[in-house]
Amino acid sequence: MAATTHRAPSGTRDILPPESQRWTALLELFEREAVLAGYGLVLTPLFEDLSLFSRGVGESTDIVAKEMYEFEDKGGRALALRPEFTASVVRAFIQHRPATPWKVWYWGPNFRYERPQAGRYRQFFQLGAEALGTADPALDVEMVALAWRLIESLRLTRVTCLLNTLGDANCRPQYRAKLIAYVSEHEHELCPEHQARWRQNPLRVLDCKKEPCRRATQDAPLQLDHLCDECADHWKRVRDGLDTVGIPYQVEPRLVRGLDYYTRTTFELAAEALESAQNAVGGGGRYDGLVEELGGPATPAIGFSLGIDRLLLACDADGVFAACSSVLDAFVVDLVGGWQASAVTDELRRAGVRADRGFECEDGRPRSLKAQLRAADRSGAAVAVIVGADEVAGGTATLKPLRGGAEQVSVRREEMVGAVRALIGDSRL
Ligand code: HAM
Repeated sequence: MAATTHRAPSGTRDILPPESQRWTALLELFEREAVLAGYGLVLTPLFEDLSLFSRGVGESTDIVAKEMYEFEDKGGRALALRPEFTASVVRAFIQHRPATPWKVWYWGPNFRYERPQAGRYRQFFQLGAEALGTADPALDVEMVALAWRLIESLRLTRVTCLLNTLGDANCRPQYRAKLIAYVSEHEHELCPEHQARWRQNPLRVLDCKKEPCRRATQDAPLQLDHLCDECADHWKRVRDGLDTVGIPYQVEPRLVRGLDYYTRTTFELAAEALESAQNAVGGGGRYDGLVEELGGPATPAIGFSLGIDRLLLACDADGVFAACSSVLDAFVVDLVGGWQASAVTDELRRAGVRADRGFECEDGRPRSLKAQLRAADRSGAAVAVIVGADEVAGGTATLKPLRGGAEQVSVRREEMVGAVRALIGDSRL
């Protein structure tokens, strides 16, 4: 019987080099922005008590109702792979009681049982930030700016920051009642899915992309027009702040996020280059009631997460932030066998030059110069460092530029590192 060949499970992907280099480069960019703004890295478990997510994210959300990877462990505990970070970060905050404002950033995989398609995976990666402990609108501005600066660093130009406010426990219930009264009258005009389940979360009808819902809700009341004085003031100050700091945004009164915990400021980053069902490269907002909801002290908070997979898809579509084609600067060609080539490679690496060497002898003898130069060329290195019998005897190294057609040169061994650096240019070192 033929052995089964395994493949990555549906909705998951392997990210291989050189693509994976983009991931580390992206994370470095974000870490830099986050650290500049005073955020520290938080690491939380990949799985948590199931009830953390059902309470935190909300029973009526698609994430909890349909998409959770739930399981029982050998001790009979009900657990779930995390579908998002925010509930875990809030749990960690309640558990450890750090000083506020507590500002943290994170990255890692999340799991949602969704129908896989381009830009929608069952294991997908997010990076993001959360700040707990202040209701100051300056923090809302800082959060949106942090997300936006990353978009700018990637040189993505076709991304729009959509901004809305969802009110708070004071004004949302009254608004919700008005919306329910409106939708009840237009129920039969909604799309089939929302006709069946709009009552579970009436607000979701507003950002349904289907034409019947769009038409039916054309004149629906909007939260923006029904804010209490405090929420209206907060909303104005957030917009003033964003204008002053220079973060472009578009007010989108129909923006309703797919998680239940939001209050006041909400935002989403929409990439024009991606198909509309998956065009959100990130989103976030305030969740002033969540810490209390999960059993902690009343603590206002805000955060956002960006989807790494989607961000990179948007980069591909816009031709920016390309994967670096080469992972090497120098390739050491070994024509003598023994340890000379390894010593040369090690010396280059110690000097910060990305270096690899030819492996595999044939019949105990090194492979031909031609075969190793072919491997050097395939490796993407800028220069081949040839270690042959003459070089070893004379204390020299031969450097052969592999791109751009320059002549090969012979240098003394002590000058090798400097000469390699000069050949690979300033671009990397
Ligand atoms: P979310 O909108 O569910 O928010 O996810 C944020 C981003 O993760 C999305 O905009 C998208 O780029 C990416 N994403 C979500 N699901 C998938 C998927 N199946 N495949 C690929 N990418 C996906 C949250 O998760 C909130 N925790 C954000 C937040 C943080 N709010 C406050 N703090």
